[in-house]
Amino acid sequence: MSDSVFCIVNVHLATMNPKHGAYGAIKNGALVANKGKIVWLGKERDLPADYRNIGPIDGQGQWLLPGLIDCHTHLVFGGNRADEFEQRLQGVSYADIAKAGGGIRRTVQATREASENELLSLALERAQTLIDQGVTTVEIKSGYGLDTDTELKMLKVARKVGEKLPIRVKTTFLGAHALPPEFDGNPDGYIELVCNEMLPEVAKHNLADAVDVFCESIGFSREQTQRVFEKAKALGLPVKLHAEQLSNLGGSTLAAEYQGLSVDHIEYLDEAGVKAISQSGTVATLLPGAFYFLKETQKPPVDLLRQYDVPMAIATDFNPGSSPLCQLQLMLNMACTLFALTPEEALKGVTLNAAKALGLDDQVGSLELGKAADMVLMAIDHPNQLAYNFGVNPVKSRWLRSKHLV
Ligand code: NIG
Ligand code: FE
Repeated sequence: MSDSVFCIVNVHLATMNPKHGAYGAIKNGALVANKGKIVWLGKERDLPADYRNIGPIDGQGQWLLPGLIDCHTHLVFGGNRADEFEQRLQGVSYADIAKAGGGIRRTVQATREASENELLSLALERAQTLIDQGVTTVEIKSGYGLDTDTELKMLKVARKVGEKLPIRVKTTFLGAHALPPEFDGNPDGYIELVCNEMLPEVAKHNLADAVDVFCESIGFSREQTQRVFEKAKALGLPVKLHAEQLSNLGGSTLAAEYQGLSVDHIEYLDEAGVKAISQSGTVATLLPGAFYFLKETQKPPVDLLRQYDVPMAIATDFNPGSSPLCQLQLMLNMACTLFALTPEEALKGVTLNAAKALGLDDQVGSLELGKAADMVLMAIDHPNQLAYNFGVNPVKSRWLRSKHLV
């Protein structure tokens, strides 16, 4: 048997494959991978002798899960906005800070001023924090450049994170995140720049795997969003959307028309929107960190999402303004306490459904034959413990494409 074969025994598997029941659990299991892909899994007693003879790893009775996926982050940025947090605690709202020229624009200035190397070293530290929590795939957005050079710089940094660290990176171009000061009073002019200059450059250098827009009263209108989506479509890039976070502009129905991968935030999503995304197979990505940090009160329509069978993902939305929380495990807990998800739904939200939100569900997100052997071994008694505990890191071992990470 060749060196590229990996085998682990004496583990419980939380495969997250619904065909095995709750958490896709297989107690007293074993798993085999070859050339980075899963080739066998099941009860240990059924493990073929050939595999047992290669000297398998002893999982010590712990739980093996698919590597966690953070499917919505803005982890490339300069500076921080702790002072705005202080202002908000004195009663100034997130939207008011943005309108007064703070918010995203502050981070834009700091990101423009930072060199590629400075941004990279900050991003690597943040990504390592996620890796330590068992994250094997992360999505990283641009959107703090708002000019062509800085947007490209951010995306290059995001790609480099995936080259320098053992983590899969999916990049998303979010040029239409906020209006840069140069285009004050001229949002349509800026959207033109996004569509006619930024997007073609991004596509030419293969720097983005998807395209996102902040569709909101303090972001861009539904029509402006549509223009960006049209261009993305022409360039063959899938779309996703920051939608219905602070109000309902109907962004989600638009994303559904473009077969969007996901709509994210969605606190103000209504039934028509839920219905639309259920028909387009779009994932609903819930971002409890931003809800918590902005002290929002309007909750995403979780019951409707369940009723229409919409897959729900959970992510950190790690960013300096609305969610400076680089902790995916905390999001599991918050998804349950704040949005009333079950621990199983929450875990599905950072595995199977997060993979779907990135268009990667044929490759990662569950322990299944043919999928990548991206795995994390956790010292827990049951997978429900992941949403229950916080601040106790149960991660014992991690593998990316069956390569052991130390
Ligand atoms: O996902 N909603 C827009 N974008 C970010 C916030 C960005 C910021 O405040 O810097 C979000 O919440
Ligand atoms: Fe975001």
